[in-house]
Amino acid sequence: MTAQTDQRTSDPFDRDDLPAPPGATGALLRSLLSAHRVRVTVAALVLLVKEAAVQAGPLLVAYAIDEGVPAFRAGDHGPVLAVALGYLLCAALSGVLQYVFVRGAARVNQDVLLDLRGRIFRHSQILSVDFHERYTSGRLISRSTTDVESLRELLSEGLQELIGVVLSFVSISAILLYLDLGIGAVAVASFLPLSFLVRVYRRRAGAVYAERSTAIAGVIVKFAETMNGIRPVRAFRRERVNETEFAALNHRHERSNGDALLEMARYVVGSRLVANTAVAGMCLWGAYRVASGSLELGVLAAAVLYMRRLYDPIDRLGMFLNSYESAAASLTKIAGLLAQEPGVPEATAPATLPARTGSPGREVTFDKVRFAYRTGGEVLPAFDLTIPAGQTVAVVGATGAGKSTLAKLLARFYDPTDGAVRLDGVDLRDLTTPDLRRGIVMVTQEAFLFSGTVAENIAIGRPDATREQIEDAARAIGAHDFIKGLPDGYDTDVRKRGGRISAGQRQLVAFARALLADPAVLILDEATSSLDVPGERAVQRAMDTVLAGRTAVVIAHRLSTVEVADRVLVMESGRIVEDGAPSDLVTDEGHYAGLHQAWRESLVG
Ligand SMILES: Nc1ncnc2c1ncn2[C@@H]1O[C@H](COP(=O)(O)OP(=O)(O)O)[C@@H](O)[C@H]1O
Ligand SMILES: [Mg+2]
Repeated sequence: MTAQTDQRTSDPFDRDDLPAPPGATGALLRSLLSAHRVRVTVAALVLLVKEAAVQAGPLLVAYAIDEGVPAFRAGDHGPVLAVALGYLLCAALSGVLQYVFVRGAARVNQDVLLDLRGRIFRHSQILSVDFHERYTSGRLISRSTTDVESLRELLSEGLQELIGVVLSFVSISAILLYLDLGIGAVAVASFLPLSFLVRVYRRRAGAVYAERSTAIAGVIVKFAETMNGIRPVRAFRRERVNETEFAALNHRHERSNGDALLEMARYVVGSRLVANTAVAGMCLWGAYRVASGSLELGVLAAAVLYMRRLYDPIDRLGMFLNSYESAAASLTKIAGLLAQEPGVPEATAPATLPARTGSPGREVTFDKVRFAYRTGGEVLPAFDLTIPAGQTVAVVGATGAGKSTLAKLLARFYDPTDGAVRLDGVDLRDLTTPDLRRGIVMVTQEAFLFSGTVAENIAIGRPDATREQIEDAARAIGAHDFIKGLPDGYDTDVRKRGGRISAGQRQLVAFARALLADPAVLILDEATSSLDVPGERAVQRAMDTVLAGRTAVVIAHRLSTVEVADRVLVMESGRIVEDGAPSDLVTDEGHYAGLHQAWRESLVG
């Protein structure tokens, strides 16, 4: 118990990011880029040539001043014309190469982001129900939107900036050292305080960006949570409270944005100061040397031009660090999500179920099953139960007795902590997902409809069903008439105007869906609770059809549902306290007899 409490206090789900294992972030980036190695290399080469074309400019100016102008004075126009032409050519070349690079890089980016979003979606989908209850959809949305977006920024602008900056620094240093060792040394010496500035900025910006990404996730989570729960929000007049909470989160995000801008501004001011000091020093010393004849004027002009060209890359380095920090924070969060193991992993060596032809469903066994939710104590202590193939079992008991837990274990939303749930003797963990989904279907209280038509919603359990089979299923369940009455009948879009369907009607659609899926085992967890009395009667009449030829577990909250059962189980605190035919249990003095009496009275009253 203490271990559990400890686990709860240091619950990693309390943080926005789940811890990614060491190296996972880098591994994720490599695996995303590995398919594009060739394109990335080509893009880098293109950028290299483009940089050379750009950096040729000041060299040409130096040549024009030192060689071209004297030749021009002497009547030879050739060198100046050559320089002008060369300058134009370099400008044109760098423009064209920039275009080629942007196009190539954009394709890589799009592919990488497509891949990443797909991975997040696929992985989230196979993570356990338990995971989703704790991680919340808001965080998933924030992973696949803002976090993917910040990676996009890094890839589309950031990396280009970085390569550009590194190339500028290297090429400018090399050119200056080549032109004049002393001038070059001044430039290289100015990189020292710059690198110090960059280090400080990285440290501070890293913290600010991590905070900013957490803050924006907080805003999205709050938004999604509020809108998902809009009904209780209205019912309990939570609007004001929510607004205050949202405003606080919104402000936190704004503050962190402001902090980020401030850090950037500090960095730019610092780097400009360093660069300007270096240029001023270079001008002074250079002028002295030009005057004393140990330096050519053209070389000094080129050196100053090059130094000025360094301002730009320095600012851009700041921007790159920005996008790098925020992408790193985001990628770590995504890596943490992708590192989560599915709660109910796919079987590595799947077992095959015996064929079901003509058999009345399948046998279900709970073999010494113990189960605890990750956030609570044990719900099922050493639970044993065998349901023969074809039997209809009603499960009754007080709220919190563990009925739904039983159902969810049978549908393999969770795996038992200990023991095994078996279908015809095969552990559910050894079944393939398709076998499991075909074998066991659960209908719950909250019947969910996907966007699409009513017919599509019914056909989910059997996508190849014909329209006739779909209508037969709906007819058998008593849903045909209301569906016919919808604006487009079976083709009505359930999310569009006029396609709005009541909770009771949704349950009828869910029943038809289950009937059409024709599973060996059907679980109904209070599945008729949203139906009115006539609606429930209709389903009741259809029960014989629905339950025939399969094993059924019916969690009931009304007497009428229990009466169709072959066997009744009464649950209390995760244990079966009574087990027998409905008629036998009524005559006993036990729990069920009491419950039965209460139900009868409620009907009479
Ligand atoms: N997702 C969950 N996480 C933690 N505890 C849960 C969860 N669902 C149910 N429980 C706990 O398990 C117990 C049994 O719940 P449940 O099976 O839903 O009961 P019933 O369906 O009989 O009302 C309750 O004590 C409940 O608090
Ligand atoms: Mg329940």
